[in-house]
Amino acid sequence: MYNSRLDALTDYPFQRLTALLADLKPSGKGEPIAMSIGEPQHPAPELIHLELARQAFGWNKYPPTNGTMAYRSAVAHWLTKRYSLGYGWIDGDRNTLPVAGTREGLFMAAMLAVPPEKNEQTPAVLMPNPFYQVYVGAAVMAGADPVFVPATRDSNFQPDFSTLDEGVLDRTALAYICSPANPQGAVATLERLQDIIRLARKHDFVVVGDECYSEIYPNAPPPGLLEACAAMDGDGKGDLSNVLVFNSLSKRSNVPGLRAGFVAGDETLIAKFQTLRSHGGAVTPLPVMAAAAALWNDERHVESNRALYRQKFSDAADIFGSRFGFSVPDGGFFLWLDVGDGREAARALWQQGGIKVLPGTFLSRPGDDGTDPGDRYIRVALVHDRVATANALSRMFDILSKEV
Ligand SMILES: Cc1ncc(COP(=O)(O)O)c(C=O)c1O
Repeated sequence: MYNSRLDALTDYPFQRLTALLADLKPSGKGEPIAMSIGEPQHPAPELIHLELARQAFGWNKYPPTNGTMAYRSAVAHWLTKRYSLGYGWIDGDRNTLPVAGTREGLFMAAMLAVPPEKNEQTPAVLMPNPFYQVYVGAAVMAGADPVFVPATRDSNFQPDFSTLDEGVLDRTALAYICSPANPQGAVATLERLQDIIRLARKHDFVVVGDECYSEIYPNAPPPGLLEACAAMDGDGKGDLSNVLVFNSLSKRSNVPGLRAGFVAGDETLIAKFQTLRSHGGAVTPLPVMAAAAALWNDERHVESNRALYRQKFSDAADIFGSRFGFSVPDGGFFLWLDVGDGREAARALWQQGGIKVLPGTFLSRPGDDGTDPGDRYIRVALVHDRVATANALSRMFDILSKEV
């Protein structure tokens, strides 16, 4: 006996990758390298070691679900500065909560937002296609229909929710958006974010912004959903209704193992989320929260981190030029390369070069017309150091040039 909704979930992409490559042995000369997973390998900032040691007395205390005041203030302060929000508009106590990394928070957001029925129908959860796999699991386990909205080159890799039928929008309970997007690195403009917020309010659904790549960008800082709300009302202190954003330190500060992030936005939703999380949410240990607060309060390590990614993207541009649809993305640390057949390319790269990449189809679903927006692509994570990354990309280019 188990929850049959689980049957609607596919295996996680990394399990599927293991199965796809199971019969192959890398025969190339280079060291095997995993560019399949978005796990930053840059060193974690020194700051956390100090802070974790200083706070060691906190391990024998149960942490509160809503975290510490110091953490909530650090988050509110960071958001206010990062997005030039009106002073005091984001209140740490009313508008923020800690999450143990955004993955669990994004998952639980569906339990928060999806009612048993919406306008007497099965609720829908909108998401871009391709997508971060947690959105699908969350929608399905909350009893909603996932609705996959194409985010292809034709739409600048953005999902356009306004093209959906009114019937679908009226039963929509939640829409996930991801900017900068995993996997394509596309960044939604402030205007696009505002259009989505207007749509969410018109049809009364919650819009969840997954912004965990917000600090990895080559040029301009990507706009955020809270910033979009603020700008809608002109005085930097706009209406936050229907809006939640999630962010974490995993990518910004190279600490995916710390499991530290936050959700911020609509006061009513945050209060309900706190109730939900006090029943089943992962709480962040006090020493971790203190270390995380110190990281949100420091930008220097983030600037040097960004500089490392900039160098790697510049190397990638030298290697790839405009082949395989390459261009430097506006945000995030992935290449989304058009290689014709993503699965075949993933197998060739592993066998001939010892390079693991993710086929695009492991992050996408076929649309109503049968075409799959991930089919032609591979996702390549530039998470290793500069030399290892450049070496692997050169090998990759040679292999793909032969194969495609
Ligand atoms: C788009 C996206 N959202 C959320 C996450 C979750 O990250 P974390 O739980 O470490 O914050 C990831 C991790 O790879 C991601 O790619």
